[in-house]
Amino acid sequence: MKVDGRHFCSIWVDSDGWTVAAIDQRRLPHEFVVAKLTSCEDAAEAIRSMLVRGAPLIGATAAYGVALAMRRDASDAALERACSILIATRPTAINLKWALDEMRKALSPLSPSARAASAYVRADEIAEQDVAINQAIGSHGLNLIEAIAPRKKPGEAINILTHCNAGWLATVDWGTATAPIYLAHNRGLKIHVWVDETRPRNQGASLTAWELSHHGVPHTVVADNTGGHLMQHGMVDLVITGTDRVTANGDVCNKIGTYLKALAAHDNGVPFYVALPSPTIDFSIEDGRQIPIEQRAAEEVATMTGRTQDGRIETVRIVPDGSPVANYAFDVTPARLVSGLITERGVLQAEHEALAGAFGERADR
Ligand code: MRU
Repeated sequence: MKVDGRHFCSIWVDSDGWTVAAIDQRRLPHEFVVAKLTSCEDAAEAIRSMLVRGAPLIGATAAYGVALAMRRDASDAALERACSILIATRPTAINLKWALDEMRKALSPLSPSARAASAYVRADEIAEQDVAINQAIGSHGLNLIEAIAPRKKPGEAINILTHCNAGWLATVDWGTATAPIYLAHNRGLKIHVWVDETRPRNQGASLTAWELSHHGVPHTVVADNTGGHLMQHGMVDLVITGTDRVTANGDVCNKIGTYLKALAAHDNGVPFYVALPSPTIDFSIEDGRQIPIEQRAAEEVATMTGRTQDGRIETVRIVPDGSPVANYAFDVTPARLVSGLITERGVLQAEHEALAGAFGERADR
């Protein structure tokens, strides 16, 4: 998508043909900085420190991390070492494991001398595939938005609520939840997005709002607890979120707070959809309660970071010294609360049969 009129992806291979460039998401929305990753360790640190974030982008970064490792040492031991460094970075988004499995599958059968070049080819494919998948998600999700349009009075916007960032910055391009939104906006539909700020890391306020502004999509940032009120007052037509892992039975793991939005949507008869690429499906798990939920540093809850009036970026403490803090990064929305899963192969029921029917080649493994 565009930043100040110039097209960017969230990650790409630099003009030297091997350095990996990625937008440093820790600096947004205040500064637009491109980071250079030159080793597997750099890629791992980028994922761990949330320089890059969002399940599909974590997967793509890990794939490039393997490519960077193979440039230095393409032995079997180095391949295994790279995969074990990268898999240990974050526990919840299953795209990380998927991408590493894909890299291993592509590289293991090759002789070490062929691995570095092939690793870049496969990592590029994973990144390009993500873009194509998100475009397909966009087209399927667009149908849902278009179906709402006839119910609107002339000039009235279709209101979509989203949580966390499932925009192009969380993927390679287009985003998952935002792909239908960008397509609908580009087609001239009047869209307005309620952006949950998404404490503690504020991905909604910092990233989704930044993206939507740059693309000119009307939006309003709201405190996380506002969604229920908006829904009670008929101010939300549709909820679309992303996800970090969907189980074989359709349970959805996503950024903390998603479950509460799903409950509010259910109570108010608001459709609650989840947009995902197929690498986010974990067919090895039936029940969402089996998903490992990342617990992150207390500082993320106990502090807030922002820009002062004179332009400095500062972090301030908002919790009394000594108060214990818990920081669960994700929650699970049971399949029964999900109106549908927007995938690259269509909008599916959140249930085993529908997922296995659409993605049989992955379900059977
Ligand atoms: O912890 P993060 O910032 O990596 O959170 C991930 C997300 O952005 C989401 O949970 C997202 O909605 C799913 S990935 C498109």
